[in-house]
Amino acid sequence: MIEAGGIRLDVSDTRDFLTEEELQGYSPRVEKAAAELEDGKSPGSDFLGWLDLPDRITETEFATIEKSAARARDDSEICVVIGIGGSYLGARAILDALPDSGTNENPEILFAGTGLCAATLDGVLNRLAGKDFRVCVISKSGTTLEPALAFRILRSMLIERYGAAAAARRITAITDAEKGALRQLAIEEGYETFIIPDNVGGRFSVLTPVGLVPLAMAGIDIRALVAGAGSMRAACRATDLFVNPAHLYAATRIGLYEKGFTTEVMSTFHGGLQTIQEWWKQLFGESEGKGGQGIFPASTVFTTDLHSLGQYIQDGRRNLQETFLCVRDSGRNLTVPAEGEGGNNLDGLDYLVGRNLDDINWKAFEGTRKAHLAGGVPCTAFELESITPENVGGLIYLFEKAVGIGGRLLKVNPFDQPGVETYKKEMFRLLGKP
Ligand code: PA5
Repeated sequence: MIEAGGIRLDVSDTRDFLTEEELQGYSPRVEKAAAELEDGKSPGSDFLGWLDLPDRITETEFATIEKSAARARDDSEICVVIGIGGSYLGARAILDALPDSGTNENPEILFAGTGLCAATLDGVLNRLAGKDFRVCVISKSGTTLEPALAFRILRSMLIERYGAAAAARRITAITDAEKGALRQLAIEEGYETFIIPDNVGGRFSVLTPVGLVPLAMAGIDIRALVAGAGSMRAACRATDLFVNPAHLYAATRIGLYEKGFTTEVMSTFHGGLQTIQEWWKQLFGESEGKGGQGIFPASTVFTTDLHSLGQYIQDGRRNLQETFLCVRDSGRNLTVPAEGEGGNNLDGLDYLVGRNLDDINWKAFEGTRKAHLAGGVPCTAFELESITPENVGGLIYLFEKAVGIGGRLLKVNPFDQPGVETYKKEMFRLLGKP
């Protein structure tokens, strides 16, 4: 078990499948991959800007973002954040993980442009009736179909509601410094803009304005988030495999993969972490899944999914490794009440009277881990005492570093995504794009 930034990483329940000696054998490869990353010598080295982001964000950048967020709080009840993939998942994941950390003041953050489903977008548009709103549109390329379509619709609504000049003041565009249609439009219309650094890819961009602007609007302490990532960056520079959490996680999951555990299921017992799982799936799936390689990332939320996918994990095809992401203290205090006078324990729950739901949930985690291990599933566990902006920032950095290293171990470039173009070609041909 190792601990860094309030996150404990325990790989002891993978030992039956990957011995300590075998794990140790990965140490030179992991160290080499990490050194190549830090020295910018690995494939995709144009996209390593995320590595030192937590140390590079300046006071002026924080202050500009906070000022923009304060303006949004003043003029809007809702901010619709438009983006897809890496341009929205990080912010959404952190917001969902930290529901109590925001100010709970205006603006409420809604997301759009995350797909092409008319009913979903219409649901967002309906929420805007009678409310003051603004738009934060995020696209690095500035040309992605889903956010561009949503932006066209929302921009028309803004203009209809407020007039062209006032509408432009209600739009923040986060995009490339120079390239792309969104940058062009922002210049022509005079939108407030933030830059996505050239050397940071979408799925690694949550600690740039892509994540920080919407999070600041929601009142999340972005300085604490970045500070947590910064501490984790320091922890993830240690060379000893059994001290560095990113190295240990990367070596464990790739070691298991090379033994045939080709699917990694991230399991949580905490509903608020479901979008972190989605972000994690994008980060690992899009970074590693290429050239016929890669661990397939999947996720479950327990105990709900113990009543469905739990059967497969316990007893199905034995190619699964499981990574738990668990929290001891939800910050809520729900205990099991006694029945009171006349109660006759018909539900059989008297043995739990006075117990906290968090304790019961933790026992469910411990029991599940034992059961899955016994069923032939190697289990890794990330354990958090509670969820804070600092440890969420740390977790994000840890996963980014681990996937950077993992990609090298798999001999793929973890920073590109050539495979996502194929469906686009077919779709655009069918749509008659000139
Ligand atoms: O990780 C990635 O690069 C992708 O998920 C992109 O973030 C996503 O496709 C959105 O791209 P863009 O920001 O250019 O609209």
